Order: sequence, then structure tokens, then C-alpha cells
Amino acid sequence: MCGIVGAVAERNVVEILLEGLKRLEYRGYDSAGVALLQPSGELTRIRRTGKVQELADAVAEDSALGSTGIAHTRWATHGGVTERNAHPHCSSERISVVHNGIIENYLALREALTQQGYTFTSDTDTETIAHTVHAEMQKGKSLLAAVQNSVKQFHGAYGTVVMDSEDPSRVVVARSGSPLVIGLGLGENFIASDQMALLPVTRRFIFLEEGDVAEITRREVSVYDANGEPVKREVIESNIEHDAGDKGGCRHYMLKEIHEQPTVVRNALQNRLGESGLVADIFGAGADDILSKVKHVQIIACGTSYHAGMTARYWLEQYANVSCNVEIASEFRYRKSVVHQNSLLVTISQSGETADTLAALRLAKEVGYMASLTICNVPGSSLVRESDLAFMTRAGAEIGVASTKAFTTQLTAFLMLTLAVGKYNGLSEADSSSIVKALHSLPAKLEETLAITQGIEDLAEEFADKNHSLFLGRGDQYPIAMEGALKLKEISYIHAEAYASGELKHGPLALIDDEMPVIVVAPNNELLEKLKSNVEEVRARGGIMYVFADRDARFASDDTMRVINVPHCEAPIAPIVYTLPLQLLSYYVALIKGTDVDQPRNLAKSVTVE
Ligand code: G6P
Repeated sequence: MCGIVGAVAERNVVEILLEGLKRLEYRGYDSAGVALLQPSGELTRIRRTGKVQELADAVAEDSALGSTGIAHTRWATHGGVTERNAHPHCSSERISVVHNGIIENYLALREALTQQGYTFTSDTDTETIAHTVHAEMQKGKSLLAAVQNSVKQFHGAYGTVVMDSEDPSRVVVARSGSPLVIGLGLGENFIASDQMALLPVTRRFIFLEEGDVAEITRREVSVYDANGEPVKREVIESNIEHDAGDKGGCRHYMLKEIHEQPTVVRNALQNRLGESGLVADIFGAGADDILSKVKHVQIIACGTSYHAGMTARYWLEQYANVSCNVEIASEFRYRKSVVHQNSLLVTISQSGETADTLAALRLAKEVGYMASLTICNVPGSSLVRESDLAFMTRAGAEIGVASTKAFTTQLTAFLMLTLAVGKYNGLSEADSSSIVKALHSLPAKLEETLAITQGIEDLAEEFADKNHSLFLGRGDQYPIAMEGALKLKEISYIHAEAYASGELKHGPLALIDDEMPVIVVAPNNELLEKLKSNVEEVRARGGIMYVFADRDARFASDDTMRVINVPHCEAPIAPIVYTLPLQLLSYYVALIKGTDVDQPRNLAKSVTVE
């Protein structure tokens, strides 16, 4: 979603801002813009719809310069994808603003500002920020005080950076609901919505907290809390790799990230899983004490992370003997739900910033959950900072919008959570050692599974001209079928639905014909025979099937069925192993269709507005 980069320096910051925007491209956007201030106060604003490169070309053509600047990639919410709606937005050629989030009361503000004589040149909610700050400055306030007063008038979410043409020595930033991170340089300082944007210039970061307003000059960073009191926020040294944005020789980030899975899963297990079980307190200091009391788990997430949660429910109930509910964050946050006794709230998120998941966590804190744990890929993110316990998935930066390695590391984390919670709830010796053994074998199994790529490339040819598809699975493979369908629709734009195959007769059978490929996930488990009956139901109605099956499952390819053998694996890790061929299938179908694999249309990597 929208991205922000800003800088206050002595040198020309154009390249820093544009490189920062390029590093945020993965989050999804539809237009981009930059506003630059020279020490003389000369303001240049350039905006373009389309890719950051088009903005970069326009900036180069204009030979634009500036030692203070703000830049933005916009993902349209209020107002269409046009240049006039792209950020930065200005007020009276003086105040320039970039903003992530939504100012919910913008219509009322707009009306009041119009009455005060302000003319709006865009359809956005963001422009109200620029005029509100300008109006406050007209009362004789400093930029800092003007922003502090302005934010009191906003309802909704914002991460915003404000610049004043009459004082190029500073920017003022404010955070509520949308993340902002200050990057500390030597004689220069930076601001961004995501540390990734600033890794070429610094590794030292201050993550702003909710309600913070900060003034940033070349030499100083002053942070004020929601009450306007000066506060010290911790400086964190980032260890994210600088070149995480490199495709490593692959055609797309998504392919690189699919192939990284054996390595990142190995990282996720390292120093956490011993020969015969978990190392103590891997979910955080004092975690085992909390986990020993857990009698119920409530999982909250969105998108792919939600599918990880759905899979975890099967494991937690089957092995760890604790009841578990899983819910989409946007539903959970707006309904009254019953809190079970000794219930642990678990949020899952690759970004740690998903607006609905964060709101759900905050709500859960008010309604009496015993404790909260987040399973997350971004250290220092909002979910990590606001949860009682945090477990980092260590997948490394994931750039492809369609989540792959973040998902499989989330699943790996959940198997470890199953061990940790199960230990106090009657997890059997046999199940415990089976999970431990399976986890130890997982990285090698994933490597073996990736080696079947060629068969899948060929298979993809048969999908590329289809408009619809159906994914089937049973038990803990049902969420994997859902994830397979999500991947295919996200990046190839083919309509894909997933069903628990026992539900076939209750609707989807009506759709079956030879134009609707049916993808079946079929490990060799106790539900195999049931699944085989479902396969026959599809065959009897002329359906064409693609079955990802364990070699011992005894499926044979024929006119109506293509069988792709997946390496045999232990039952607990089968959902993780079967995820990989489905990711590859989506990737190769998208490749043939020529879609934008890493940045699919209309989607964003980090959904920071609800
Ligand atoms: C977006 C991303 C998905 C992700 C979902 C939840 O839709 O494109 O890949 O699964 O958000 O994000 P989270 O960061 O909370 O896992």
C-alpha cells in the first residue's frame, strides 16, 4: 500500500527519495510523487501515475534538486488514479504533505476549510491535512505546533510527513494507525513508512509509537507523545540485509522467495528446536509460563496469514488438545465474541502492520484475553511491539506481494507452538516425537519438493486459457487448497475457489465441466480414501483433474487426471510441503499469462488501512 520516504540533509536527496520509493514498490501502488525544497525555499513538486520509474524520468528531465524532500507512492482510496490525486499535496504553495492511511472525517474538514477560503485541487482526504496545517500556521504557530494542533482534528489513520517551504531545515511527522520509522544518519535524518526504504542510507531506526509527533532536522530528532510531552524512543539497529531487494538471478522476487523456503525454514528452526524438543522460552521471555496456562487459542489474521491460522487450528486441536478458533481480523474486530477462559490471542502477520489485525489485537487487550502472541516477520513492527509475546519467523524480507516464504515459516512456527502448548495439555509422546522428527526433516523435504518444478511448468500451459478453477483438500490440507486458490487468483487473475472436498456435493459439483480444472491436494493420510471418492465424483461429471499426490497414494494419470507426485513426508509437515507445488503452479501460470507477478494489479503487500 502507500509508501512514504522523506529526508532532511545537506546533500541533494533526490536519489535517496527515488531509491526509497523503488524499495517500497513491492507494497503496491498506482501513482508516485515527490516534493523537493532547496535551501532557498524553492519548491518543486512532480507527480506521475504509473511506476516510480516514470516519476524518476520526469524528475531527471526537470533536473529537480532539493536538500529536504518528501516522496510517496499512492494506492488509491479516496479519488481515482490521477496525477492530481497523487501525493504530495500542497496548500498555498507553502505546506506539502504525504500521507498514508485515511482521514475519515475529511468531508467535514473539507467543507470547513472551503468556507475558510481554501481551494481543493484533488479528490483526496490527504489534501485536508495540508490545508489544516496551513490554517494553523496562519495563526502564527510553528510547523510542529501546527501539526500537533491539526492531528487533534483528524479521525482515522495517518502516517504523515509535512514540509514548509518557508523553513527547509525541517519536516514534521505524525503517526496514528499507519507506521512511520525515523532513520538516523550523520548530519542528515530520514523518515519512511518502512525501514526497507532507508536501508541504503542507515541502519539506525526509531519506530514511532501511536500518537507520536516528531520534528526532524539534519542534526536533531525530537519526539513528542500524544499528550505533547517530549519522549525518548529507543534507537534500534536493524539487521535486515541491505540487498534484500535483490532478485538473486531469478526472473521475479516471487520465484526467488519460493526457492528460499528450505533456507528460511531452516533459519526459523535454528536454536529453537533441539534434538528431542523445543528450547525453552522460544516465544519470548517468560513465554513458557504463559503457555503452560493456555486452554484455548484464538487466532486472528488476514489473507495468506489467515490460511496459516486455519491450518494451525487442525494441529492445535489434533495434537495439543486445546480448542482453537480462527477468524479474519476484519470480522473479529467488529463483532462481539465470547472470550474463553485462559485464552491466548495469536495474531499472524508477515508485515506486522496490517490495520485490521492490529485493531483486533488492541480490541482483544480490552476484552480479557489472558495474553497475546504475534507470529510475525518484521522485528520492530507494530504487532511485535504491542503483543505480550512475539515469535519472529525469520523469513527475511518478502518483496513479492503474493506471500510464499512468509507463509511456510508461519506454519513452521505454528508446529512449534503446537509442541509448546501441547506439552502442558497432554500432547502424546508419540505425537511430540513425530512432530519434532518431521520438523527436522522439513528443510530437506522442501528442497526435494522444489526439484519437481519441471512437471509443474508443463502443467501450467494447460491452465493459462482457463477462466475458473477449483481447489480441493480435506483436513489440514483444506486451508492449503485455500492458499493455493488465493495464490492463483492473486497473480494470474484466474478465478479460483477452494472447497473442503466433502462439500463437493453441496454446490460446486454443479460447476464441473472440462473448462474448469480441478486441483486436488492428496497426501497419503487417513482421509485419502474419502478424498478418492470425491475425485471419482468429479471424474463422473467430466471434470479434468490435477492431483498433487504422495507416490504411495496410488493415483494414476489418465485422460481425465494428471498426477504430480510430491515427495513422501511425515504427516505433520504435509501441509507445508504441499504448499510449494501450488505456489509454483500459480507462478508459472502467471508467467504464461504475462501478468505482473510481483506486483499484481490492485493488490498491496502491506495493508495499512482497513
Ligand atoms: C495482503 C498481502 C498478503 C497478506 C495479507 C495479510 O493482502 O498481499 O500477502 O497475506 O495482506 O498481511 P499480513 O502482513 O498481515 O500477513
